[in-house]
Amino acid sequence: MLWKGRFKKELNEQANEFNASITIDKALSKHDIVASVAHAEMLCRTGIITEADNKEIAEGLNQILSELEAGTLSVDESCEDIHTFVEGLLTSRIGDAGKRLHTARSRNDQVATDFRLYLRDEATDTVELLKDFCEALCEIASEHTSSIMPGYTHLQRGQPVTFGHHLMAYVYMFIRDIDRIKDACKRMNVMPLGSGALAGTTFSINRNITAEILGFDKPCENSMDGVSDRDFVLELSFCLSVVMTHISRLCEEIIMWNSWEFKFIELDDSYTTGSSIMPQKKNPDIAELARGKTGRVYGSLVSLLTVFKSLPLAYNKDMQEDKEPLLDSFKTVNDCLLLIAPMMATMTVNKENMRTAAAKGFINATDCADYLTKKGMPFRTAYKITGELVAYAIDNNKTLEQLTQEEFNKFSDLFADDIYIDISLENCVAKRTSEGGPCEESLLKQIRLAKEAIGRA
Ligand code: ARG
Repeated sequence: MLWKGRFKKELNEQANEFNASITIDKALSKHDIVASVAHAEMLCRTGIITEADNKEIAEGLNQILSELEAGTLSVDESCEDIHTFVEGLLTSRIGDAGKRLHTARSRNDQVATDFRLYLRDEATDTVELLKDFCEALCEIASEHTSSIMPGYTHLQRGQPVTFGHHLMAYVYMFIRDIDRIKDACKRMNVMPLGSGALAGTTFSINRNITAEILGFDKPCENSMDGVSDRDFVLELSFCLSVVMTHISRLCEEIIMWNSWEFKFIELDDSYTTGSSIMPQKKNPDIAELARGKTGRVYGSLVSLLTVFKSLPLAYNKDMQEDKEPLLDSFKTVNDCLLLIAPMMATMTVNKENMRTAAAKGFINATDCADYLTKKGMPFRTAYKITGELVAYAIDNNKTLEQLTQEEFNKFSDLFADDIYIDISLENCVAKRTSEGGPCEESLLKQIRLAKEAIGRA
């Protein structure tokens, strides 16, 4: 216990357990040590502690860190939190110098600093995983620049696209996710250390020294803000929620495409599971779980928002609840990304089934209306005539391309025999040359630009 002096009685055992955060914040051990080494160095350079004390502190802390990393030392979970553990152990090893470490510092500015350092690393890892995933998707997309599939709205066949075009839509979502995380990290990279408990310190510290050692852009400008706010936690939690939104949409599609009803893809055995009773089953559990785990990531965001709502300044113990939800969100997102990438890389794509589905459902109807429009008919009239054509084709159990030219001409004499060229699926895709459209050239450009963006990220 760091704060014993004032008390006549021991803390109640259950209260002690309830109060402790070590089982969660032990994850921050490395960052706690790194921040303490920097703090001691600053205290030394400003003449607040001696060189000898600083040397002992740095050596003691680095020794603890290497033992933790080597696994020869484990965190003592009977301590209140990771800060208590590190300081207590250091002091038990080096004596008075260890007791000087907490000069001009509070656990409040300490934890706010540690958590930012920890999250900076976590965010970097997640960004790397997102980049790898985007690259894997670009790879699959480049193999399917001409694999025609129906594009849907309302889950009704709408217009033809390619499988590559469909996948690249996700790549751009994930690229924005990377951007969003990096943007949140920029705001997070401001150092609370030196804010003290809430009102700074009477020691003549130099916060620029610690900020520089720890790689922060600057010290925070207001000590109460430094120890009070966790908006960086909220922002990252939101960023991860959006990642999960995208993952859940992609996984939902994978589940559908993998069904017997669609059969657009088949997941590899190594990423599917069986049923205990139905021998024929091969279930897309990994995709389903990724979809399902979106719930806990959203739940964490709501928890965090709720914890911080209406909290008076400055530090309140409520704030200790900031770690578990966000740590869980990072783990969840990382786990999902690590699995979905190989799951998709190993799936088989059934181009023929996609092509067959695209041939049904009148997904070339817009192209038929565009044909008339290009021959001078106002689009709205062309739209109406094509609608009537579709109704006629449905009644006669035909697709548009199966209608004879006489049948076309019953609806408009603008139809010539080149109509069949314009409404062939391949041409429907090839003619969609507008920027960002599905034609092969545009898709190749999308892939190139995406790879450039991933490289820059
Ligand atoms: N374990 C605490 C937390 O994570 C550290 C800060 C404790 N500060 C205090 N005033 N009790 O928030």
